[in-house]
Amino acid sequence: MGRLEGKVAVITGGVSGIGLGTVELFVAEGAKVAVGDIQDDLGKALQDRFGGDVIYVHTDVTREAAIGALVNTAVETFGKLDIIFNNAGAGGDMSPMTDLGEEGFNRTLALLVNSVMFGHKHAANQFIKQGTGGAIISTASAAGLQGGWSGAAYTVAKHAVTGIVRQAAAELGPHGIRSNAICPGVIMTPIMANTFGVPAQEATEFEGYLSEKIGTIVPSRRAGFPNDIAEAALYLGSDGSDYVNGVLLPVDGGSTGVVTGPFSKVMIDSAAEFNKSKGR
Ligand SMILES: NC(=O)c1ccc[n+]([C@@H]2O[C@H](COP(=O)([O-])OP(=O)(O)OC[C@H]3O[C@@H](n4cnc5c(N)ncnc54)[C@H](O)[C@@H]3O)[C@@H](O)[C@H]2O)c1
Repeated sequence: MGRLEGKVAVITGGVSGIGLGTVELFVAEGAKVAVGDIQDDLGKALQDRFGGDVIYVHTDVTREAAIGALVNTAVETFGKLDIIFNNAGAGGDMSPMTDLGEEGFNRTLALLVNSVMFGHKHAANQFIKQGTGGAIISTASAAGLQGGWSGAAYTVAKHAVTGIVRQAAAELGPHGIRSNAICPGVIMTPIMANTFGVPAQEATEFEGYLSEKIGTIVPSRRAGFPNDIAEAALYLGSDGSDYVNGVLLPVDGGSTGVVTGPFSKVMIDSAAEFNKSKGR
């Protein structure tokens, strides 16, 4: 408890899933949080639930001006800024490359890349103005480290997030600003139902169903949950990670650390068969 005592954070996409889990943990650890999202009813309910610790600001993260306004509101309300978590997102255009259109590609990049770029810009300018340094955290993805996890536009966008983070470490590090990315594997949140066309009223049932299936192919033998990512964000936002900068942290139960499928078994069995055929 108290690892973020006295800190002020901005969290985008904070009314649902990973963002919501992070708001809950940050407040429990002593932070004041300005939440930016577009689901206003959930945002207002969140603000009511947490009294003076959370303020909700309608923020469409595809618009630079909205991100600037969110940062300004956080500072006006709570006096300063220490942490920004660029987290809002959705699956975007899931088309394969051969079908991907210009509109869907641009829309996906605006949501997942522009949001992170301008979150960096506005938070960094505030940190520099304050002379305090600060922590920037961005939600990339396993799809930002490997191909094939999602649609082409999403994969490209999440790889771009890792580029922003590394560039930020170079440009902003000298100002005492740290930028790190969290790369979640499969995390059970409403994004799943939204992306795969499952109606909202069946989202929880679908999450349970998917969680069981996914658990069988993850090295840690379970799907991830918002709190798994919130704990990583807590570490990266707190002073305990003061020397951690430019890192792409997978939080995926080992998924991106290993090759998927029975690859090593096929190798071992093939070698055994080959040797046997040669009489060894
Ligand atoms: N769930 C996963 O398996 C997973 C894996 C890797 C990365 N991610 C990333 O995690 C982040 C959070 O996703 P989640 O799984 O918690 O999903 P979620 O749907 O529960 O939460 C996403 C939030 O972002 C908000 N949002 C969407 N478009 C917005 C916009 N234009 N402006 C402001 N807010 C907007 C939504 O309203 C929602 O509250 C996303 O960036 C997503 O790409 C998720």
